[in-house]
Amino acid sequence: MAPLDMKPNELESYWLPFTPNRAFKQRPRLFAGAKDMHFLTPDGRKVIDGSSGLFCVNAGHTRDPIVKAIQEAAATLDFAPPFQYGHPQLFKLSSQLALMAPGDLDHVLYANSGSEAVDTALKVALAYHRSRGDGSRTRFIGRERGYHGVGFGGISVGGMVANRKMFGNMLAGVDHLPTTYNRAEQAFSSGEPEWGAHLADDLERLVGLHDASTIAAVIVEPVAGSTGCLPPPKGYLKRLREITEKHGILLIFDEVITGFGRLGHGFVSERYGIVPDMITFAKGVTNGAVPMSGVMVRSGIYDAHMDGPQHVIELFHGYTYSGHPLAVAAGLATLELYKNEGLFERALAISGGATIRVSIVTRQ
Ligand SMILES: Cc1ncc(COP(=O)(O)O)c(C=O)c1O
Repeated sequence: MAPLDMKPNELESYWLPFTPNRAFKQRPRLFAGAKDMHFLTPDGRKVIDGSSGLFCVNAGHTRDPIVKAIQEAAATLDFAPPFQYGHPQLFKLSSQLALMAPGDLDHVLYANSGSEAVDTALKVALAYHRSRGDGSRTRFIGRERGYHGVGFGGISVGGMVANRKMFGNMLAGVDHLPTTYNRAEQAFSSGEPEWGAHLADDLERLVGLHDASTIAAVIVEPVAGSTGCLPPPKGYLKRLREITEKHGILLIFDEVITGFGRLGHGFVSERYGIVPDMITFAKGVTNGAVPMSGVMVRSGIYDAHMDGPQHVIELFHGYTYSGHPLAVAAGLATLELYKNEGLFERALAISGGATIRVSIVTRQ
């Protein structure tokens, strides 16, 4: 059929992600606009956006400074090749993210989705070990119930059965820590449960089984988001950091949801006083307005790649749209807006708690 013969707004052609398509197409749910905390339906009804889009519109919809920044970028520099070239705003955003990240996580690689960020982090882990002559470290450890997107890397280290069962063997050699969720032990917990720090010790069991010399990295969501919002048991993340450090295993925190103020900090690692080796981020970095994601990387990991001949590409990895000018413009405007409106501090104050108060003091 010639394109002009197509019915306008034909429902059939679109295969909706993570959606029962036939049920949807019988009763489509459409949004035609959005402002602040509401979506607008095509017939003009307002619907409260109680989950900030998909945990990404942290400051509300169609915020003027972000809209303006994207419009200006589209009219000024619509695209700049990310391989062998850069653009000034990209360096500015990177420095700001480096300042926001804990410890010496002060280098950033960009991608476009959380899934790509996770794959990027896993690849950097392999490349790091190999660049240090430790190339037998190829195994990844994820966690049951974990969600790290839908790339082959992400579903391999992830622990959601429905996302994995269709897709065969995935990455070889991956193993999983037990979930930290235990209803019998943690019922009626408020915030971080008292029970469960010992579950991190299971990493010692996996080290005993596989040997540390085969393990590249452990990846977890510091606060899990996709199988329920599950704060870590008290002391769990610290224990995981100690064990990974002891065995030379990299620790990756997947902060695709938890970054950019959702838990009152730039990155939630700060809340728990832990410096992981890499942090993946996405979503709130642009307030959901333009796709952007990335990986914050510790200096030592970056430096390990920087000792070959200077004219040689250090890492054979990147995406056509890494650091896209529209996303960068949205990112800079978003960080500015978060700061001007004190949104991280506001989230801290709303969630309360001792750790939180200490953090506010440190920030001032
Ligand atoms: C922790 C975590 N990692 C990765 C992803 C995947 O992100 P995306 O859907 O942008 O690929 C998500 C998405 O919700 C997530 O919550």
